[in-house]
Amino acid sequence: MAPPPSTDPAVPAWLQERLETAGGRVPFHTYMEWVLHDPEHGAYGSGRLRIGPDGDFATSPSLGPEFASLLAPQLAEWLEVIEGPLALVETGPGEGQLALQLAEALAANCPALAGRCSLVLVEPSPGLAERQRRRLAAAPLPVRWASFEELAAEPVRGVVLAHEVLDALAIERIVWDGSLWRCQEVVLHAGADGAFALRLEPGDPLPPEASAALAPGGPLSGVLGPGDPRFAEGRRPVGWCTELHPGLLPWLGACAAALGEGHLLVIDYAHEARRYYAPQRSAGTLMAYRAQQASGDPLREPGHWDLTAHLCMESLEAAALAAGWRPLGGRRQGEALLALGLAERLHGLQQGSAAELASLLARREALLRLVDPLTLGDFRWIAFARGPLAAEAALPRFLRDPQPVDAAPAA
Ligand SMILES: C[S@@+](CC[C@H](N)C(=O)[O-])C[C@H]1O[C@@H](n2cnc3c(N)ncnc32)[C@H](O)[C@@H]1O
Repeated sequence: MAPPPSTDPAVPAWLQERLETAGGRVPFHTYMEWVLHDPEHGAYGSGRLRIGPDGDFATSPSLGPEFASLLAPQLAEWLEVIEGPLALVETGPGEGQLALQLAEALAANCPALAGRCSLVLVEPSPGLAERQRRRLAAAPLPVRWASFEELAAEPVRGVVLAHEVLDALAIERIVWDGSLWRCQEVVLHAGADGAFALRLEPGDPLPPEASAALAPGGPLSGVLGPGDPRFAEGRRPVGWCTELHPGLLPWLGACAAALGEGHLLVIDYAHEARRYYAPQRSAGTLMAYRAQQASGDPLREPGHWDLTAHLCMESLEAAALAAGWRPLGGRRQGEALLALGLAERLHGLQQGSAAELASLLARREALLRLVDPLTLGDFRWIAFARGPLAAEAALPRFLRDPQPVDAAPAA
């Protein structure tokens, strides 16, 4: 599907005005924050982006209820060890599909637990929150919307889920100039014809507080630090560009303040630092998505495209530790879903009747897409715990080995 034509000029008036007020150039981080999260003009903030196979991009829960029904037993395992009222907090719930599917799975399969549990949705976009309200109007669990700051006044106990949220936090783009790192900037240029255009240019040197991750002892010291021999050998050419994740620590800190006790599950695109910052990855991982199309140009139709960057596993873990979380481990989505019974679910579909063939084939297709190693199956599931139970938390079910298909009951 081709993206619908945008009526915006190359540089929309609101962005031109902001850039002029800022002196004609801003760090990439500021630009990304504006074009994604500005409540009036941002792709998420305005509620313009649509999530699903018929929208701008598909996510695992937007393919149907299979993802949530496999994930729900993991969440139930974590919730069951906590006494009293429970909260299942979903951050960045998008269209609200996953929240509704999880509420339905918990109410159907764990009614006693569901009776103690409410849904809390953390969604900064008013437009998306409105669509979530409509979708969850008849949810089988009580639902409320709150910010992390509001929750911190009376922290909840339970689970926080961050599915494809941290990849939407604004990243800093940095450029190697041959001797030091510079912040990449978005610059407003006036052409001879009076029309404005945006360009990406190296800006100021990376400030010391932003370079901490690269310094000795930092999570990236081995791959981007000043002592990394690959820079001395000139293997990163001038203009080599990548990303840092300054939004992770504040987000994880705010999330920790909102959750008195329990678990955080991050599900997102991620690479280990050695892959993320490999010399051949010369433009980082930043991508733009709209109407099921991908683009490497983050300056295209600002405010109409999703911009997304992978997480770095080591940076995420370091930020989580600094924010008071205990890392429990991570796994690719394909392996995590197999450990949660996806193979048994597929096996069970063979028992269906001929009359159900079309729906069985659709479910089979959805399950296979969730574990496709080239797409959703390569996502990472990364778990953290905090509070008194963190010290004794068992290995999460999704990190345990899958059961052999023959030993499992049919779904
Ligand atoms: C890629 S969508 C994912 C939606 C949904 N989780 C899914 O997988 O279908 C990103 C979501 O995160 C929200 N978001 C962006 N920044 C956020 C933040 N700082 N805190 C919570 N949610 C945020 C967006 O508004 C949007 O709902």
